[in-house]
Amino acid sequence: MLEHAEPAPLSWLDGALARFASDNNDLAPRTRALLESLIAEPKRHARMINTLSLLEHMGSHKIMATQHSAAIDQATLKHVAEEAHHAFFMKRQAEKAAGRPLEYVAGDLLAPSSARMYFQRLEGATVRALGSRRSARAAYLYMSMIVEFRALWFYGLYEQALKRARHAMSLKRVLGEEQAHLGEMAERLEAGNELDDVRAWEVLAAERKLFSRLLGALEGAA
Ligand SMILES: [Fe+2]
Ligand SMILES: [Fe+2]
Repeated sequence: MLEHAEPAPLSWLDGALARFASDNNDLAPRTRALLESLIAEPKRHARMINTLSLLEHMGSHKIMATQHSAAIDQATLKHVAEEAHHAFFMKRQAEKAAGRPLEYVAGDLLAPSSARMYFQRLEGATVRALGSRRSARAAYLYMSMIVEFRALWFYGLYEQALKRARHAMSLKRVLGEEQAHLGEMAERLEAGNELDDVRAWEVLAAERKLFSRLLGALEGAA
């Protein structure tokens, strides 16, 4: 510890990141293998990146659709802007790999119905875990936090696979922003005394099942 450092406010997150990694250990080799095979084939890789663009776009749309009160703050506006930028970034990379414009249609995506279902079911699981006492703000912070755990994990493996393949695409900026979002969501939940360990792991366990299903669908499509 540095002498001038403030007491670590994100200790829950540090422990949670370690637990998330170990809980997801068995999914890492499958994810790595999928990414490696996709990177080796630019046409299918393009569809994967376009699917990530769709997911980022759905994420930014979800924030806009649920966070529209007069009290919307700078942090939330920044978050939505960055998720929209991720959708744009992935679209640009996807079209570069494909060498043509791509739409969010089945032929340009990988396992699109599973990707959409992942998001919708995750929202359902979050809402159920939070119960009827939830505020729109808490639901937004929880759902975002859970998604960021996966985004950071997945993009981390993706960045490593790109590096190994000496691919020109870099996820450095995206990774930095997702990491900041994760820290911010956990911090804001903690500040509002809304970060419930049991509840968070309930949703994280549900998310793991949903991601595992999505991974299976992507493997099938690839
Ligand atoms: Fe993102
Ligand atoms: Fe994010």
